[in-house]
Amino acid sequence: MEKARIGVTGLAVMGRNLARNLARHGHPVAVHNRTSARTKALVEQFGDEGTFLPADTPEEFVASLERPRRLVVMVKAGAPTDAVIEEFAPLLEPGDMIVDGGNAHFADTRRREAALRERGVHFVGAGISGGEEGALHGPSIMPGGSAESYEALGPLLEDISAKVDGDPCCAHVGPDGAGHFVKMVHNGIEYSDMQLIAESYDLLRHAAGLAPAEIAEVFRTWNTGRLESYLIEITAEVLAHTDAATGKPFVDVVLDQAEQKGTGRWTVQTALDLGVPVGGIAEAVFARSVSGHADLRAASRHLPGPSRTKVAGSSFADAVEKALYASKIVAYAQGFHEIQAGSAEYGWNIDAGSMAAIWRGGCIIRAGFLDRIRAAYAADPHTPTLLTDPHFTEAVGDAQDAWREVVATAARIGVPAPGLSTALAYYDSLRADRLPAALTQGQRDYFGAHTYRRTDREGTHHTLWGGDRTEVDA
Ligand code: 6PG
Repeated sequence: MEKARIGVTGLAVMGRNLARNLARHGHPVAVHNRTSARTKALVEQFGDEGTFLPADTPEEFVASLERPRRLVVMVKAGAPTDAVIEEFAPLLEPGDMIVDGGNAHFADTRRREAALRERGVHFVGAGISGGEEGALHGPSIMPGGSAESYEALGPLLEDISAKVDGDPCCAHVGPDGAGHFVKMVHNGIEYSDMQLIAESYDLLRHAAGLAPAEIAEVFRTWNTGRLESYLIEITAEVLAHTDAATGKPFVDVVLDQAEQKGTGRWTVQTALDLGVPVGGIAEAVFARSVSGHADLRAASRHLPGPSRTKVAGSSFADAVEKALYASKIVAYAQGFHEIQAGSAEYGWNIDAGSMAAIWRGGCIIRAGFLDRIRAAYAADPHTPTLLTDPHFTEAVGDAQDAWREVVATAARIGVPAPGLSTALAYYDSLRADRLPAALTQGQRDYFGAHTYRRTDREGTHHTLWGGDRTEVDA
């Protein structure tokens, strides 16, 4: 009996498309779903795309896989993943591999990897980005887990991933939870990028007075330049779309309350634990949260603000492009800082440049820009921040006046721009000679004897604030 090279269990749209992608690339694929109607439907509809081996039971599914077995789990992150692991792990043998392709929290992946390692089974938490289309036509894949498991899985995953200049958008990220960690930060950056784009749209609309269809044209133009990316491309599509029922711009009939499934929030929670400033991602998460507080917004609608004034259209659009590009550099610099901090904390040894390379295609944040980041890490793998890479330094230098003008305009006319503003504040914080943190330290020492360090000598000190204010060594 022919054996399958790999199996997919969980045949909702992502699992189904991934299985089809594998089959289309000539890999015999075993398919299984909790309810077998889905398995049957997949084979009926797409059976001619390749070799599918349908299985009704976990036992049949596992028996149809060649050894070492490669079993991809595509179920909802959380308890369903644990349930599936519990169901399949007893049927597996040492050396077999379970791949979790969902958006799992990296801490769960670490826990599952450790537990399965005890049983001799490799657990591979693989971030997969690109949505349904990506899963079918070539996603960006971020597999974690052991190097040994990547030897057996890598060629298959690379084969079905997106390609940029012939290079696969898939690389071994690092041990245990590294893959899901990087996917989490990818999503955090995705939130930040989307928020910056949304603010740019809002400013073009309310400061420059452009209509959605006109703004779509602006984004189309931007998409031919350095901002070229999937997110800018789809922004133009969404803004140009007219609602069939009302004839109004589609963007005007959609309820302005952004939802979220949690990966952006995890990125910020993790950054807080790691002590990494990711204000751009945090503001993006909070902006979605503010938008969803309908009662709070309704109660606040009458609060006073400036009288809105318009600004000149075309030169302002150019300024917004510069502010957006500069802020985007900050967003990615913050995300990569988090990746490097996570890598150091967990001993993952993640190659940041390689992450930029596998995000160039297939994923939601795919963009020409990622190639610049890849090049920056190629030039200096240990750069403390992307902002000091010569290309990016030049870009933020060139954006200075425009960036400040856009943020100031937003504040002056009362259009919220938390992403653009926090990016600029982060940038100014990094380049400041002295920060008011010295005063914060003084206050902490005053009220709580929390001590401080001095600029001119070693040691930890405390001033006797309640006494004669002499300084003592702490
Ligand atoms: C991807 C996306 C994908 C999903 C987001 C959406 O990389 O393919 O990031 O994972 O679309 O998780 O997240 P929200 O629902 O939280 O916006």
